[in-house]
Amino acid sequence: TKHIAILTSGGDAPGMNACIRAIVIAADRLGYQISGYLRGYNGLLDDQRITLTCERMHNLLQQGGTILHSARCKAFTTEQGLKKAADNLTKSNVDTLFVIGGDGSFRGAHALGQIWEGQIIGLPGTIDNDVAGTDATIGYYTAIETAVSSIDKVRDTADAFDRVFMVEVMGRHAGFLALSAALASASDYVILPERFSNEADTLTQICTQIQQRQAKRGPVSYVIVLAENVWPGGINDLCVRLASQSNMEVKPVILGHVQRGGSPVSQDRLLAVQLGTYAVTLVETSTSGVMVGTYEDKAVTVPLPQTWEDAKPLPDDAVTTMMTLMNERYR
Ligand code: F6P
Repeated sequence: TKHIAILTSGGDAPGMNACIRAIVIAADRLGYQISGYLRGYNGLLDDQRITLTCERMHNLLQQGGTILHSARCKAFTTEQGLKKAADNLTKSNVDTLFVIGGDGSFRGAHALGQIWEGQIIGLPGTIDNDVAGTDATIGYYTAIETAVSSIDKVRDTADAFDRVFMVEVMGRHAGFLALSAALASASDYVILPERFSNEADTLTQICTQIQQRQAKRGPVSYVIVLAENVWPGGINDLCVRLASQSNMEVKPVILGHVQRGGSPVSQDRLLAVQLGTYAVTLVETSTSGVMVGTYEDKAVTVPLPQTWEDAKPLPDDAVTTMMTLMNERYR
């Protein structure tokens, strides 16, 4: 019988547990032996492995985080680390390794695939949605929801005080989360890595919009969504400079790791079970070194390198919609 192993790696994301559950249940149906490595690739290096059973999957689908724990593992990227991991997999007679994570985890998986004979299948799990070859990543939708509900609250107090707020959202170097959060919360402006030109123009644009609105309506509130890692001097520098140029108080809010937690929303659960179940159907095939993703809602496989070599573009429609709505507000 086949022995499959699962690990979760890199930034955890809501829905990782739902994905583990789907894999375990589908694999159990087929009579496979199922292991879970703890703390990402660290568990593979230290051979920290647990047995996963269907009983353990009870009430797991709705839980945030990952029962396998996660980590970023420097040692794994060395030649020595990869060799150790391959040896441990071989010693434990693992046939298939499922890696749930983002592009960093897939780079590691691909490198391992060069020296280990077994089957490797990646599943996209990250709140950033910055993995090419799939419409969405597990965790992305929940993170949007968390960001939107927080921005809604910021909007209440912004309105009450006619204040400017700068809300920083995660996304690493991609603007998916920022764009979706801004659109779904009717924020007034969004600063995205993919569309950022320069500091002076951005500040001027925001100030002009605030002033135009003030001229029309008197005191106004203004909520800006800032994608992390975009503004060279960081959010505090941006707030200070915007305050001095606009003559308004500008309050920073960093949403941070709340965006990584919580019970997954339905869309992430559905994606997790779709991809987890599909991944198990590949076990008896020769397919390896791929990530499973969705393309127009259908499960597909893509070679691992494609997931990071092709830059995933922001959806043009969403960008256009955001620009249109931003302009509408003060016309
Ligand atoms: O990749 C997920 C993510 O949350 C990014 O959005 C963020 O840039 C990064 O991880 C934060 O990493 P850490 O949890 O190690 O601070």
